[in-house]
Amino acid sequence: LKKKRLRLFDLNRDAARFFHQTLLEPQAKPALDYLLGRALTMRTIKHFGLGFASDDWDSLLKHLTAKGYTREELREAGLCSRSKSGSFYDYFRNRVIFPIIDVRGGVIGFGGRVMDQSLPKYLNSPDTLVFKKSSNLYGLNFAKANAKQRLILTEGYMDTIALHQAGFENALATLGTAITQEHARLMARYTKEVLIAYDSDAAGQKATDKAIEYLGEVGIKVKVIRMTGGKDPDEYIKTFGRDKFNQLIEGSGSHIEYKLAKVSSKYDIHIDEQRVEYLKETVQILSAIESPIEREVYAARIARETGVDKAAVNAEVARARKAFA
Ligand code: CTP
Ligand code: MN
Ligand code: MN
Ligand code: MN
Ligand code: MN
Repeated sequence: LKKKRLRLFDLNRDAARFFHQTLLEPQAKPALDYLLGRALTMRTIKHFGLGFASDDWDSLLKHLTAKGYTREELREAGLCSRSKSGSFYDYFRNRVIFPIIDVRGGVIGFGGRVMDQSLPKYLNSPDTLVFKKSSNLYGLNFAKANAKQRLILTEGYMDTIALHQAGFENALATLGTAITQEHARLMARYTKEVLIAYDSDAAGQKATDKAIEYLGEVGIKVKVIRMTGGKDPDEYIKTFGRDKFNQLIEGSGSHIEYKLAKVSSKYDIHIDEQRVEYLKETVQILSAIESPIEREVYAARIARETGVDKAAVNAEVARARKAFA
């Protein structure tokens, strides 16, 4: 099994090299133009080893079998599939390729993006002997060296790459919104603080709540970036620039601030009925805070905001905490 894993790492590395070489060939100009069009520099493209899978059914197959790998090995690597009639064909075709690299620098899998509006937008390697999407983090190989202060958690390949290019070399990605406790434990090995920078759409917000929960469980301090006018970090930086993103980082609040702001945006506290609902929800949030000082600070703020006596807010929080215990 160990030998099989090593062989897979070898195969993946050769595949990554092939995809990268292909990207630099003249006939791959549309793919290279696509990446340059998304504001990536040649330096970034090389740094992340980006590549291109041509539109053929078997170019990778031919290349790797000529190098001595069997078609069965390629299938186990998730790089080719087998049709009902028994013929093998390349899994990634006509897509720009993002190699996924583990902390030790081994290529464990790939993501492939279409260059137009067709679906699925991304195709990822299936789980293999060396790759599990639910426990690997894209970009951790680079981010780990800059993780001491904090990590910036994004959803996507392009978010992570755009952030690195802009100088935020502590960015990484869960490759979608399906964050797991394994992801959280992995991050906990490298940092004490994570800044969540998921997409500002509904899926991203839902995943943010999950991330707050899982990262909290492993003792990581969590902050959340609130992006307005930009859907994800890549788009935000492209629209507003790196300095503005840095301001977002500086101005990011704790996960409590984030949750309170979200509740606040739901209600008009000038209407009594809504003010009551607002207080009920915020009391729930406050009751989950372990630190008495932190609880007190936020309770005072909410009392001030709503004009409700602070003692009443504190009493409600105490009651909710009792209900927990
Ligand atoms: N993803 C995926 N399969 C899809 C869509 C998304 O695996 N069909 C993963 C990819 O890792 C993607 C991430 O989820 O990077 C976030 O998805 P999304 O926000 O939809 O895409 P972006 O990363 O913003 O893609 P792009 O900027 O290239 O359009
Ligand atoms: Mn080799
Ligand atoms: Mn998204
Ligand atoms: Mn994007
Ligand atoms: Mn996105």
